[in-house]
Parts: sequence; C-alpha cells; structure tokens
Amino acid sequence: MSTTNRQIVLSARPVGFPKDSDFNLVESPVPSPGDGQILVRSIFLSVDPYMRGRMNDVKSYAPPVAIGGVMGGGVVAKVVQSNNPAFNEGDIVEGMFGWQEYALSDGQGVRKIDPTLAPISTALGILGMPGLTAYFGLLEICNPQPGETVVVSGAAGAVGSLVGQIAKIKGCRVIGIAGADDKIAYLTNELEFDAAFNYKSVVDYYTKLSELCPYGIDVYFDNVGGSITDAVFKLINPKARISICGQISQYNLEKPEMGPRLILSSLLVKQARAEGFLVFQFFSKYPEALMQMAQWLKEGKLKYAEDIEHGIENTPRAFMAMLKGRNTGKQLVKVSEE
Ligand SMILES: NC(=O)c1ccc[n+]([C@@H]2O[C@H](COP(=O)([O-])OP(=O)(O)OC[C@H]3O[C@@H](n4cnc5c(N)ncnc54)[C@H](OP(=O)(O)O)[C@@H]3O)[C@@H](O)[C@H]2O)c1
Repeated sequence: MSTTNRQIVLSARPVGFPKDSDFNLVESPVPSPGDGQILVRSIFLSVDPYMRGRMNDVKSYAPPVAIGGVMGGGVVAKVVQSNNPAFNEGDIVEGMFGWQEYALSDGQGVRKIDPTLAPISTALGILGMPGLTAYFGLLEICNPQPGETVVVSGAAGAVGSLVGQIAKIKGCRVIGIAGADDKIAYLTNELEFDAAFNYKSVVDYYTKLSELCPYGIDVYFDNVGGSITDAVFKLINPKARISICGQISQYNLEKPEMGPRLILSSLLVKQARAEGFLVFQFFSKYPEALMQMAQWLKEGKLKYAEDIEHGIENTPRAFMAMLKGRNTGKQLVKVSEE
C-alpha cells in the first residue's frame, strides 16, 4: 500500500466555466484509522454536475467546498483497514469519500456493495445516485402513464439515459434531447427512444418538438433548463407533469439568463405541475428503488454506458469534460485497480 495520499483540492472559486487552475493536486501521508474508523482506497471517483454549485460560496442545500479543501463526491472504494465491526478488510463500499486516493470514515452513510450483482462502478451510476434520481424524479414526480409522451433533456447522460428507458418500461413514447449526433444514435438505436434530436444542430427547438410530439407533451424531465425548457413548455398538455431535476445550462453563467416569461402562464392555462426535487428527499425508499433498478438491469430492460477517465490527476479534466458534454452515460475516474 502506498504511504502517500494524492488529493484534488479546490484552489480557487471558478468564475464562469471552471479551469485547470481552480484545482490543485496535493500530497499528504495516508492517514491511520482511529477507533471505529475505516481506511478506504478509492477505485472509482464520480464527477457530477452538482459539484459545480459546491464550488461557489453561496448558501445552498449543502455547504460549499472550502478553498484548499478536498473536493467532495461519491466514490467506490475498498476497505484496506478496519477498526469498525460493521466492515471487513476487502469490503467494497460506496460513500462520500471525495476526490482523493485514500480516506477515513466512521462508516456513517457508507454502503456495502455486492460485487457479484453488477460491476462495482455501477454503484455510482445506474445502481447509485444517478439511477435513484432518474427513478424517483420520473416515477414519483411525474407518474408517467402508458401512451403518454415523455420528453427528457440531457438525455444521453447518467440520469437522462435512465429516465428515458424507465419511461419506455412504463409504456410511454419517449423523445430525447442531447448535444451530439453520436448521442442521438445511441438513444434511438441502442436505448430505443422513439425519437431524439441534437440541440446543437437544430435551431428551432419548438418546431422540432412540434414535429416529434404531434399530440403534445405530457411529461417533461428537465435536466438542463434554459431555451430547451422554454420550448418544451410551449407544448405541454393539460395536466402535464414536469420534473425539475437540474438546470445545467445555467451552472456556469456569470449572470442569470433572462428568458421568455411563458413558463408560469403555461402552467396556469394547462393546469400543469412543475416540481423540483433533490434525490435524497427519497432516502427512506432507496432500498426498494435499487432493488427494482437491479432487477430491470438483470432482465436487460435497462442498459447503461460509462465514460471512464484514468488517474486522479485527470479528475478535474474529466469533470470539465462532463460539463462540456463529452460523456455518454456516467462519467467516472478510475484511480486504482479493484
Ligand atoms: N435533483 C437531483 O437530486 C439531481 C441529482 C443528480 C443530478 N441532477 C441533475 O441532473 C442533470 C444531469 O446530471 P447527470 O449526472 O446525469 O449528468 P450528465 O447528464 O451525465 O452530464 C451532464 C450533461 O449535461 C449536458 N449539458 C452540458 N451543458 C449543457 C447545456 N448548456 N445545455 C444542455 N445540456 C448541457 C451535456 O450533455 P449534452 O451533450 O447533451 O450537452 C453533459 O453530458 C444535471 O442538471 C444535474 O445537476 C439532479
């Protein structure tokens, strides 16, 4: 085992889109676990859009990362030393260990992973937080019904690709919106979405959506916000349900973007409902959702993709690439062997 722990710390608060100099790679000795603690060695690090918000010094649902602090985040790791009776050396676990090669934990919020169920990386994707987000954000907030038209933005990413597939399982007609032609091919050919379009090459989203949704939109799963969402709202049906999951088009803006003020009028005249959610509000129901997702995966009803970068030093690059849309499916960084 190495005696050096490499960590990625936040060196500056990004202004607009993050850059290399906002992060720093530092080294420190690998710590020793105290009473009740475990020492884990990271295998897969997760990079997620929400981390952009944690880099800002603003009040939100979670405190910001301190300047000089290790970037937080979900990690799949191996227990290498245990002074906690709930964990054995060799256990594969998932927890918020952050962007570092080794971490200490008292075991709170740490989940044991069964490596025989699926590849362990899935604990950060389809069988982890993004999978739970897709499951609850679609099923609990939108209650999709057979035959309804579901539109999902950010459709080829970790959450969106699962939302569309769950909607297909529920018998819906699914339209995806994503930012590259190969992503559109993946959605329609591999994941069997009914249609999809590339918002970077289509100029008029409203006309395109009108063509693809001739009977209007019953459910919208919003990962991106901005002008894509403005266009969707013009086409919602009476009693539509809209899940506000993310607004990634806005995360790197220095000033809030002004849009047409149609959204509330659309909700009013269509007697529709838009609801924001944070996945952890469904914490008490995680076990049942994970069981269902694992079952669908086993039955071949759900597929997933992963984009894997290698080396802890490349974690900021992987994070920025994900914000730019280079990933299909879940973006991960592999930092050691299993
Ligand atoms: N509410 C919750 O509890 C919760 C939990 C997890 C995630 N989320 C949110 O869910 C969304 C998806 O998260 P994820 O982890 O699945 O990420 P992801 O979709 O795997 O990756 C982010 C994707 O966003 C797209 N994107 C980037 N800039 C964009 C822009 N200006 N306009 C439209 N699309 C843009 C890119 O794909 P393109 O190539 O398509 O542009 C990129 O691949 C994010 O908004 C995230 O904040 C919310």
